[in-house]
Amino acid sequence: MKNAFPAELVKKITAKTGTPVYVYSRARILRNLAAYQKAFAAYKPLICYAMKANSSGAVARLLAGNGAGADVVSGGELYRALRAGFAPGKIIFSGVGKTPDEMAYALRSGILFINVESAEELETLERVAAGLKLRAPVSVRINPDVDPHTHKFIATGKLGSKFGVDFREARRLYSRAASSRSLKPAGVHFHLGSQLYSAGPYALAIKAVADFTRALRADGICPEYFDIGGGWGVKEGRELPPVDALAGLAGPAAKSLGMKLILEPGRSIVADAGALAVKVLYRKKSGPKNFIITDGAMNDLIRPAFYGARHPVLPLTERPGKIARYTVTGPVCESGDFLAEGAGLAEPRRGDILLVLSAGAYGFSMSSQYNSRPRAAEVMITGPRSWRLIRAREDYQDLVAKELR
Ligand code: LLP
Repeated sequence: MKNAFPAELVKKITAKTGTPVYVYSRARILRNLAAYQKAFAAYKPLICYAMKANSSGAVARLLAGNGAGADVVSGGELYRALRAGFAPGKIIFSGVGKTPDEMAYALRSGILFINVESAEELETLERVAAGLKLRAPVSVRINPDVDPHTHKFIATGKLGSKFGVDFREARRLYSRAASSRSLKPAGVHFHLGSQLYSAGPYALAIKAVADFTRALRADGICPEYFDIGGGWGVKEGRELPPVDALAGLAGPAAKSLGMKLILEPGRSIVADAGALAVKVLYRKKSGPKNFIITDGAMNDLIRPAFYGARHPVLPLTERPGKIARYTVTGPVCESGDFLAEGAGLAEPRRGDILLVLSAGAYGFSMSSQYNSRPRAAEVMITGPRSWRLIRAREDYQDLVAKELR
């Protein structure tokens, strides 16, 4: 983990850009993508990077330039994906609430397929495609009712979540699509949730969806793509664990069906490839607790506050002294504003830089201007001593740029 962010280099970066700043390792992003490409090589999958994890232009361009496709969930992400150079034929569009305008944008752009998640959405897509005199390639997002054993905010594959439709409804939607002149069944799709640490839930879902697909085929409906979604977990502070177990399950399943395999990894491509660098402003005690107040806050990285995620904190300068427990927090006016609770550190000095690790996924992309804090800058580390700014820090004018009198 440490070697992706050499301390001396990050100190130089922060001296130039100021803090808070997101730093990404180009080498690590490519290594993670290559791990997928290698483990799945025998099955020639389409790896559709889930843009929501980190949609920054430079990150997206890097992945597009190295063979990835993209999974998008909004017109905005589609815009970013096309701008970054992902081939339209390698882009898929998911999400429960696509608007007719977003559908039209996707169809006109010629993307690979649209994942629909309800009967009403399918009807809307049919109407939009008919209006454009196009045949919309669709896949139905199936909710296989498998418990992914993850945080309830990021679990999607169990009935009772807003995502997907059950097998019976999916069957109906495929029949409807197959009999429409404006729709064409292109894939089957499921996504169980995010931060899955074992292949067990995938095994259950892959089997159920493969059986479903066989039944579809028996009725003459033959989608080409078998899409197992994303969700492979990376614990905060760890590197990407092997993806071979997943490949060993999904690859043979798609192959035996004669279908092309699609994966939608987001977090596992970028999580350990990014860190948030913040500066220590003040230290204080409150009752039994030691606080380190930094210039980074929950508006920059919301995962600790929102999901209780435990991102390790790495000081760039080693200080002498006993290790104590610290709450690393920021200036936002909420008690839930913390980057880490109970981090074990030797007391840092004011001005020291701390790296909050595993912040490459759902870090900047979930950041906001809450408390009217301009969003952080972003930097790509491109070599042992080289880096470049990929997004300038926002300023006060950015806070009000769209306001009207
Ligand atoms: N495909 C679909 C349809 C998805 O909904 C998601 C994530 C992915 C792929 C990518 O999943 P990944 O490989 O990144 O786990 N903000 C949360 C994570 C939300 C994930 C939402 N969907 C977090 O910070 O933990």
